[in-house]
Amino acid sequence: MGSTSIWSGFYKKSLKERKSQIELSFPQLVENQGFKILEEEQANNMIENCIGITGLPLGLALNAVINSKSVVIPMVVEEPSVVAAVSGASKLISACGGFTGTLPDRNIIFAQVQLLDIADNDLERTILTLNSKKPFLISQSNEFCKTMFNRGGGVVDLTIRQIKKSTKNSTSNTWVVVHFHIDVCDAMGANCASTVAEGMAPFLAQLTGCRIGFRIVSNLATERFSTAKFQLPVSQLGYKGFDGMEVAKRIVEAYEWAVDDPYRAVTHNKGIMNGIDAVALATGQDWRAIEAACHSWASLKSDAGYKPLTEYSIEELHGEHYLIGKLELPITVGTAGGVLKTNPSYQLSLGLMGSPNSKELALSMVCIGLAQNFAALRALATEGIQRGHMSLHARNIAIAGTVGLTVAGAPSHAISECVTFMIETNRINQSAVIEYLAANQLQSQLSNLHSDDAPKQAPSMFYFEDTVNANSSLEPVLSLNIAFKTFGDKPVNIMFTNESNSTDSIAHLLFGQKSYNWITSVFHTLEKIKLTTIKPVRANQILSKKLKLLSMIMNIICKRIYLTHPNETKKFIKAVLESPGYDPSYPIVPNDSSPVSWSAEMIGAIPLVKTHSGAVLVKEDTASHSLKSSSLFQANLTSIIEEIVSQNGQSVLLTVGLPLLLAVWQVFECRILEWVGSPLLASTLLTEQRHVIASIIGAINPVDFDQAISISAKRMQVTMFLLSDAVRFQSGTIQPNLVTSIHSIGSTLERDQILAHDLSPMRLYRDIQLLNSNKLSLDCDISLGVTNTFLIWLNLNNGYTVEQILSLLPESKEEWKMVYESLIPLFKVYLNSVWKPSINIFDKDSPFDTTGLKQASSFYLNYYDVAWIESAIN
Ligand code: MEV
Repeated sequence: MGSTSIWSGFYKKSLKERKSQIELSFPQLVENQGFKILEEEQANNMIENCIGITGLPLGLALNAVINSKSVVIPMVVEEPSVVAAVSGASKLISACGGFTGTLPDRNIIFAQVQLLDIADNDLERTILTLNSKKPFLISQSNEFCKTMFNRGGGVVDLTIRQIKKSTKNSTSNTWVVVHFHIDVCDAMGANCASTVAEGMAPFLAQLTGCRIGFRIVSNLATERFSTAKFQLPVSQLGYKGFDGMEVAKRIVEAYEWAVDDPYRAVTHNKGIMNGIDAVALATGQDWRAIEAACHSWASLKSDAGYKPLTEYSIEELHGEHYLIGKLELPITVGTAGGVLKTNPSYQLSLGLMGSPNSKELALSMVCIGLAQNFAALRALATEGIQRGHMSLHARNIAIAGTVGLTVAGAPSHAISECVTFMIETNRINQSAVIEYLAANQLQSQLSNLHSDDAPKQAPSMFYFEDTVNANSSLEPVLSLNIAFKTFGDKPVNIMFTNESNSTDSIAHLLFGQKSYNWITSVFHTLEKIKLTTIKPVRANQILSKKLKLLSMIMNIICKRIYLTHPNETKKFIKAVLESPGYDPSYPIVPNDSSPVSWSAEMIGAIPLVKTHSGAVLVKEDTASHSLKSSSLFQANLTSIIEEIVSQNGQSVLLTVGLPLLLAVWQVFECRILEWVGSPLLASTLLTEQRHVIASIIGAINPVDFDQAISISAKRMQVTMFLLSDAVRFQSGTIQPNLVTSIHSIGSTLERDQILAHDLSPMRLYRDIQLLNSNKLSLDCDISLGVTNTFLIWLNLNNGYTVEQILSLLPESKEEWKMVYESLIPLFKVYLNSVWKPSINIFDKDSPFDTTGLKQASSFYLNYYDVAWIESAIN
């Protein structure tokens, strides 16, 4: 079965990100077609009295697996929820085996020629004459569709239909119609059929002596059925609190009602056509022909009038109950000829579907019709459809003003939270938007992505899904889906979900011991370090979590690559940190190669002033410069990776790791630039991440122990987590003094944590051993794997040489206890004398809720349990 996972989370991406994923996934197609649409000049040649062109949204229905092949299906539709409904239903269906479909043997269309004025007493002779000349008529008719014939199609049969007239006539009471059965290969075939009908009319007139009536295609192609089916275990059908069997029964009941009530059947079928027409529009099909055929089939499939086109039943197979859904339709579509060449967007849509032939296209449409109907019935049979419609409706209202239709209109970064606000307050209207915007004083923040260097080959994908709290309605599933270009032979898919295979070697190389479980559990623990304000927060929870997760992932990958390729990593990170950044007047790092050394202030846009407590101050005047675009999209960064790879061979850490690090960083910066309303906060977040990475690769040479510990502590990334929380604060709250406070709290906690981390007896004991085996150096560069702030202090402030530190290694547990207990208090005395927290987070007047902070600190202390040392030494 094909993979649909690369599309996970597609709906959560911005329009730009989605287009960029399409560019990565279909480089050839985008290069040839781009996202071009019909031009006026072409339109003017297509119809009469043309005055312009109009537009409709083009979306992608995802997750469909048809006959074991995954297919992306473009849809053009103005109605909200249609694309989402199809994608959601297809996801479930695909997880349960996908759609199975059957195609017609040949793409037959009928050309009709009407023979008139045949007297009742001449009917038999006429029919006999026609039948006797059948081989001649077929061969002659192929002269009028030579191209089809040469392609293996053409006229393959001829039938004569006699239809009783309903209006009585004194001499002639039967309509006689000759049907030419034409295999139109990959064309829709209407033009071809009409040509055959017109071409053959004189032969038929001559043969029978009849008057010729109409000569035209029939849009009812009853030899061209495509059938789609799914089979869903009832156990998988539970939905919105309804048990699976209940949902299945209600769907069947809805179908049975439509069978008996044409008023319902029409709406039922309208839902099916929502899907089919949208694909027809996207791929340039004659949707009127399709509509006409489907509705006529709804009337003809039974003798008892208009019926629902789909059919549902519950069946028991091998002891399990299944809901079976089926849709069979006579669909005429073409993937060759017609208007397909005139409109470049049709070529794009067909290309996205993998350039199907016309039978495959017809089948995809039938599957989409079935999925659409299933989704509608499931929603109607449970919670109703209005709720699902609401969020898109709200989104449209929030966006409306930005396209100049109304006065309202949220800037892009505020749309999601605006939608949440409208839904939560149950006020989906423009005044709610205006009110919301006014109340929050949101400023428009446009990001200007440079994507000129977008890679042109198939992308690799990194997918992370945090389902830890998936069952809680308060905690939506958090997912990251990042497309990136690797420099290896072929693209890779790195999946990190609770189902992913932990032995996946690439993931293992990039993340080492940091398994999915490790990352999610640390993430959730660190999530407890939370700043909450008394004022209500904005609905940006997902954004805030995403930033934290992206930052964590960057840190892990960066460290992994650095340990194996220190020089190459430094070269790359140096280029990132030197990238023009947000303020062109900012000093650029001198171009000397080694040793790499930057001052902390050189890395970011905001001048950070270090205080005695290790905290930083933000200067107000430079804090609000405008942020427009991320510098991480420069071609230069990609070419540096290319150069590193060409010089160092195919190490996966370089061919996959560096591009992934860059891609995650790009997403991180874009998210911030696009979605964080406050320029001050955005700038601070971008800068903080650069500091964290700089600390990992030892980019900042510490001048003294005080700086050494600040640099080591940065890797604990508490400040980053706290700043990410601030994304949820009201924009007016984000003032320089708040950012300064966050830095103070963050660095205090970071120091607490690095100390808890380094001073645990077990770790200290182990680290001295590592020093012995040259796996630890006495500075804050982690290129050997680990560092230890206490050992740095012994060396830097107390002059302990490596030999003297090694001589501390004890013979026994008791001895170690003595050494440990005599040295650590000295260190603590030193720490107390140099660090006075500039803000006391445990103060009763603190503006922050500090419960989470306390919990997090104790986590670190407990994490490095003293009991470990006992087992290590014994
Ligand atoms: C709305 O466009 C389509 C539905 O009305 C279909 C149905 O009722 O089955 C939801």
